[in-house]
Amino acid sequence: VATNAVLTPLAERPERADGIAPAAHPGGRLLEGRRILVTGVLTKHSLAYGAAERMQELGAEVVLTGHGRSRRMTERAATMLPERPEVLELDVLEPEDFESLAAALSDRWDSLDGVFHSIAWMPRDVWRDGFFNASQESLDETLRASVFSFKSLTGALRPLLRRSPQGASLVTLTVMGGRHSRWYAWMGVAKAMLDAVTKQMAVELAPERIRVNGIASGAVRTNAATGIPDFDRLEALFVDKAPLGWDARDTSVLAGPASFLMSDLARSMTGEILHVDGGFHAVL
Ligand SMILES: NC(=O)c1ccc[n+]([C@@H]2O[C@H](COP(=O)([O-])OP(=O)(O)OC[C@H]3O[C@@H](n4cnc5c(N)ncnc54)[C@H](O)[C@@H]3O)[C@@H](O)[C@H]2O)c1
Repeated sequence: VATNAVLTPLAERPERADGIAPAAHPGGRLLEGRRILVTGVLTKHSLAYGAAERMQELGAEVVLTGHGRSRRMTERAATMLPERPEVLELDVLEPEDFESLAAALSDRWDSLDGVFHSIAWMPRDVWRDGFFNASQESLDETLRASVFSFKSLTGALRPLLRRSPQGASLVTLTVMGGRHSRWYAWMGVAKAMLDAVTKQMAVELAPERIRVNGIASGAVRTNAATGIPDFDRLEALFVDKAPLGWDARDTSVLAGPASFLMSDLARSMTGEILHVDGGFHAVL
């Protein structure tokens, strides 16, 4: 199989042949004045970090969430963003955290324009013990953290979201669906359910002008991904097969599409799953 060239991150690309340098951050002030809650920033390499960074560059006001002991890591990553955002507590396995987050955000903002949901987790035995042997308790936790958290977060923030002047936008992160993947196993099942939740919420919330979309990402080297056994071979699949090529080290790859979905440019889009995978999903 021929290996495609690895994509060069935009910031490192040479000037165009016509001498015009590519804009560092195309999009101007696309998200000027938007207030966006970004979950899932653990480190500078989290997919949510790239999204938060680009959203700030495009003019959005951003608040992050972090949880428990790892919140210190989120606080550290926050200091590296263009503007240091506030970090609020949200452990999606703690039901009361959703309401306290909503209360903390209401103290700060009278409306909310966007939520970036970038959270997935499963206990170790779900990976380790095989599809039929993982405990029911662990499977319940996997779904609570990776699927129901999107619904619970949205439910708690709904009063703020429905006050967004232009209509709010929710974005979650998923994987290419519709196929078996030995890498994802129960996480693949969880993501299929997350896609269904995305579409259901899109319909439920449309009367309140709240849009709900997902991004199906290719394999990126983040903390969560490198915990997947045999991740190197999954990465190699994308590098080999994606028509546009694929750089699994580019953790900012979703930043543009996520910002677009948050913006008014996507005002007629809801219930959609955008693939950001170098075109991998389109080839056999
Ligand atoms: N990296 C990839 O290849 C890839 C591909 C497709 C989809 N995704 C999805 O992207 C999302 C973000 O993952 P990532 O790859 O940036 O890895 P990451 O490890 O940087 O982010 C995962 C986040 O989930 C958070 N989290 C876990 N348990 C939590 C809890 N109980 N309460 C609150 N937050 C909790 C972690 O703190 C972390 O910030 C996940 O939904 C993941 O499934 C990743």
